[in-house]
Amino acid sequence: MTQLQPARILRVDAEWMREHLRETLEIYGEAMGYPASVVEARYGHAASHTTRMGFEAVAAFDPAEALIGFGYGYTTRPGQWWYDQVADALGRARSRQWLRDTFELCEFHVGPDQQGMGVGRNLLRTLLGGVAHPHVVLSTPDSDTRAFRLYRSESFVDLMRSHYFPGDTRPFAILGLTRRPR
Ligand SMILES: CC(C)(COP(=O)(O)OP(=O)(O)OC[C@H]1O[C@@H](n2cnc3c(N)ncnc32)[C@H](O)[C@@H]1OP(=O)(O)O)[C@@H](O)C(=O)NCCC(=O)NCCS
Repeated sequence: MTQLQPARILRVDAEWMREHLRETLEIYGEAMGYPASVVEARYGHAASHTTRMGFEAVAAFDPAEALIGFGYGYTTRPGQWWYDQVADALGRARSRQWLRDTFELCEFHVGPDQQGMGVGRNLLRTLLGGVAHPHVVLSTPDSDTRAFRLYRSESFVDLMRSHYFPGDTRPFAILGLTRRPR
């Protein structure tokens, strides 16, 4: 019987991410089911994310060294689109609690053929293992998805449900994780 070989998970730096942005965004498009136009429009944003303070990223490779998944994030800060939206939605007190010295998990995707086999959990744990921030926050479509179940099982709690970001008709959940001091 053939033994399924585990994916190789690597921490990668901002330069690696810039050099492999097309490949990673292809996975983003396939995983989210987005058309090519949405993926193309994401390119400039993703490139600028790699220059943000606290940028950390991971990538997963199959045994043939093909990229099958990735994740990245950075320190969330006032003036960034996502921070400003979420701070507004959470209000001042909860923003102070959740958005100060906080890592925003911005992108996290595994190719559709490789999902449900533990690659995502391994990516997430490796990424957060290299992050020193006491809090991690993210937004994800607010429905019973594999992503949502995975975040829940990794102890993320609800900060807000059914939140609508401008320009998107889907409800989102904003989730947060408090990490034990290292
Ligand atoms: C979210 C995502 C990155 C998670 O990656 P993944 O590799 O599919 O996740 P995992 O396999 O680690 O865990 C997910 C599921 O597999 C199960 N699983 C984990 N290891 C497993 C194994 N060895 N064998 C079988 N199942 C396993 C988990 O229990 C979990 O089960 P569930 O689907 O019933 O909740 C991926 O599914 C994805 O890209 N989804 C679409 C895009 C997306 O939503 N991205 C996040 C946006 S915020």
